[in-house]
Order: sequence, then C-alpha cells, then structure tokens
Amino acid sequence: MKRILQFVAVGTVFGAILSAFFIWVVDWFPTEGSRQSKEAYPLFIAITYVSFVIFGVVVVAMGYSIWKFRQRGPSDLRDGDPTHGNTLLEIVWTAIPLVIVAFFGAWGAIVLDRNEAHAKDARVITVVGYSFNFEYRYDSDGGFTRNDGLYVPVDETVTLHMVTPLYTPGTKNLEVIHSFWVPEWGIKQDATPGVSGKTVGTTWVTPTRIGTYEVQCTELCGSGHGTMKFKNIHVLSQADFAVWLAKAKKEAADAKKAAASNPGQAVFNTAGCGGCHTFTPAKSVGKAGPSLNDLTTAFNEAKAAGKTKAADVNGFIKESIVNPNAYIAKGYAPGLMPKTFGTSLSSKQIDDLVAYLAKGGTG
Ligand code: CUA
Repeated sequence: MKRILQFVAVGTVFGAILSAFFIWVVDWFPTEGSRQSKEAYPLFIAITYVSFVIFGVVVVAMGYSIWKFRQRGPSDLRDGDPTHGNTLLEIVWTAIPLVIVAFFGAWGAIVLDRNEAHAKDARVITVVGYSFNFEYRYDSDGGFTRNDGLYVPVDETVTLHMVTPLYTPGTKNLEVIHSFWVPEWGIKQDATPGVSGKTVGTTWVTPTRIGTYEVQCTELCGSGHGTMKFKNIHVLSQADFAVWLAKAKKEAADAKKAAASNPGQAVFNTAGCGGCHTFTPAKSVGKAGPSLNDLTTAFNEAKAAGKTKAADVNGFIKESIVNPNAYIAKGYAPGLMPKTFGTSLSSKQIDDLVAYLAKGGTG
C-alpha cells in the first residue's frame, strides 16, 4: 500500500511536469477566436493534465517494476509469487476511471450547453460540403448562396447547419461525408450524406476576433480531400458585415436575373461548377480543376492526345461533364471531378450548360 502511494505521488509530480512542458512550452493551441473555443479550452487543459498524471503513475510503476524484478545473472530463474484477485484493488481501479469519465462527461455537457446558449435568435447559415468545396447558404437572409467563402459578423452567434448535396436515396447521386473545421473557432461538425431535417448536423459559433481564418475538411472524402482547405472564413465588424450583406444580396439578385435569361449559367451556379473551376463569365475562381475559359484549346489538346471521341467542342464539353475521366487536363489528377453529373443533371440542363460553356458564357 505504501509503495502504491509512492507510485501515485511520484507519478503525479512526473505527470504534472509533462503537462506543464506540453502546455506551456509548446504552443499547441490556435488563437482563440470564438466564445465556443474559450469554453472548450479549460476542458482541453484539464483533460491533458489528468491524462499525463495517469500516464506518469503507469510509467513510474512500470519503470520501478522493470528495475526491481530484473533478472540478476543468467542463473536467476526465480518466478514471482502467485497472486489471485484483489477485491479492493478492483473496486479502486473501476471507481477512479468512473469518477474521471463522469466528471469530464458532465463538464463537456455543460460546455456544449453553453455553446448553444445564444442559438435561439442566431442567424442561420447552411454549409454545403461537396467534393471538393464548401458552399454557404444564407437562410436567414433570403437564401442566397456563396462559394467564395463564409462571411460572418463578430460577436454574434451563427447557427451552422451541415449538409451534402446531390444525395437522392435509391439513385447513384451519392455524395460522401465531409467535415467543417475552423481550429480558431474550436468547432467541428460533419456533413453526412442522407441526413436531413431535424437530425442534420448543427453547430454554433460566436466569433470574437475579426480576421480571416482557414476551414479544413477533416473527413477523408476522396482524392481531393487534401485540397479541401480554404483560407476564406471572414469575420467582419458588424458595420462591414452589413455592407457585405447588402452587396451579396444585390449580386444574388443580379445573378438570378441573369440566370433567367441564361439557363446554362443557372445550371453552372446550382451544380457548383464554380467551386472547382475558374470561369470568368461566371466570376468563379475555383482552382481544384482546370480553368474553363478556353475550352477550344483544351479540346484540341485532348484530340491531339487521342483522348476524346467527340467531334467538336460541344461534344467534348458534354463528354467531360458526363464522363470526366475520358480526358484529364495536364497537371490535374484523375478522379477529382464527381462522376455523378450525368445522372444528377437532366439532359436539358446538360445541354444548357454545354452551350453556356461553349459560347464563353453567353448561353
Ligand atoms: Cu471533404 Cu475531406
């Protein structure tokens, strides 16, 4: 018993030194950028301390045993005393983890509850995670969509719903899981295919620091997973946000008007092409896939490489939408572009989109 108490005492000191070293010497944590990360930070620290103390006790007891019961010479073949069960020890080693887990469980529940404290009147934004970009739909502000980043006001709680598009049960229109993580905000939430309505993944954030942050997808979602991180999370002052919101609303209204007379552009916008492709007429600047600004040159390159069966540019564009792996533009990896557009878009939508791209955006 005395020995066990010694292990605990030495292990605790050892663990506390390790914790102090890892917490104060190495700067692990990102800058605190939200009320949620402020809530979670002390919990992280406490879990780190407890984990290192347990690690310390185990390592000290193990180190002592290795030294104490070592073999003393080649003729030392002694065996240890046989033991069988120890009720007190079993009760103690069950009770201690139970108390630790229950304590952190309760603390974690309090943190999650406080993170939602201001959810009631929060502005609702739906985050659409798809291969391989995030899109943001401003549900509380008329439902316009942006794929050039998330803009939110400082010191105001925002509700973030996570969804994936394209999923229709029983069809091949299957998106995969993605996850929205902004380290400075201390929040992370999965966008899971096939989940909708009340069970949709939802999280809340109350940004406290103006600036631009990076979002990273944290679910291995395919060959483009590594490209799915963007430094386009903008926290603006309340006044700057109001200006941005008015401008975004006007741009959305203009785009809607333009789309009415240009069905191909409407398809381009709703199918999310701009998330991965640069196309100047659509004002898109995506970099994951090749630029669509000069498809005649692309067609000639594909033809020279013997990689397309298409007779003309229009046929080539259609082939690239329906069967994207037929020809891969130089410098891009195969398999990046979803193969689902042939089924998720109607044939009229595909024809409109082809015409729009072929004519350089004039539909
Ligand atoms: Cu999306 Cu990883």
